[in-house]
Amino acid sequence: MKSINLFRQKILSFLAVAHIFIMLTLVSCAQQPKESKIGTSVKSLKIGIIGSGNVGGTLGKKWSKAGYKVFFSSRHPEELKDLVTSAGPNAQAGTIENAIKFADVVVLAVPYKAEAELSNKYKSFIGDKILIDCDNAYSFRDGAVVADAKSEGVANYTQRNYFPKAKLIRAFNAVNASSVASADANNKIAIPFATDDPKLKSVAEELIIAADGIPKDGGSIKDSKSFDL
Ligand SMILES: NC(=O)c1ccc[n+]([C@@H]2O[C@H](COP(=O)([O-])OP(=O)(O)OC[C@H]3O[C@@H](n4cnc5c(N)ncnc54)[C@H](OP(=O)(O)O)[C@@H]3O)[C@@H](O)[C@H]2O)c1
Repeated sequence: MKSINLFRQKILSFLAVAHIFIMLTLVSCAQQPKESKIGTSVKSLKIGIIGSGNVGGTLGKKWSKAGYKVFFSSRHPEELKDLVTSAGPNAQAGTIENAIKFADVVVLAVPYKAEAELSNKYKSFIGDKILIDCDNAYSFRDGAVVADAKSEGVANYTQRNYFPKAKLIRAFNAVNASSVASADANNKIAIPFATDDPKLKSVAEELIIAADGIPKDGGSIKDSKSFDL
């Protein structure tokens, strides 16, 4: 009888230890991100926006209202208070450097001529982060670089000369910011995108959908020349 009780006690202790082990494993699994940084949980990606004007402001507002954490930036971040208020609680603003440091996904929405300067100052902070290039190159505004950039394809030129390590997505350059602003669930807008990395397609598609767009796969970064404006 004594040995049966001892055996029962050992079994109970073993079950208690096993129970604690299983609970600890479950808790630790629950604390892990559910997907990798590039995967279906794009919503966990933090977005930093360089150039919070028509394009950057419109996209940032759409994404913050859709639940993404958005960091608007400017050379004068104190001027972005109204934008942050209208974007809601998921939005904040600050310097360009801090937006890049905050972000998993950096969005470039500046006049094309600014890209050279931004590359010099911030290329090392951007590193191999995901970079969405929304910029168009116009000679009346952006000067001498435009001829070469347009003949090569603007995003290809950007990748090669300015942000060679970045995981580049070309998107949002071929749609008017006001059309994106007025799009909604019942009135979506086709938005072409391009990337060389198949794993980035889900990121591009999800962010386009969150901006009330319909993603249109435009192929590789080189192919994106076809939708340069
Ligand atoms: N507007 C459209 O419908 C549209 C559509 C598709 C693509 N695009 C392209 O998207 C880009 C942005 O257009 P946008 O209409 O949004 O322009 P925007 O309203 O003028 O905003 C551009 C922002 O770029 C920032 N910026 C300018 N020079 C800079 C520099 N040297 N360094 C850092 N930031 C600088 C400015 O921010 P701070 O002065 O606050 O620093 C400004 O808020 C352009 O390349 C444009 O061709 C525009």
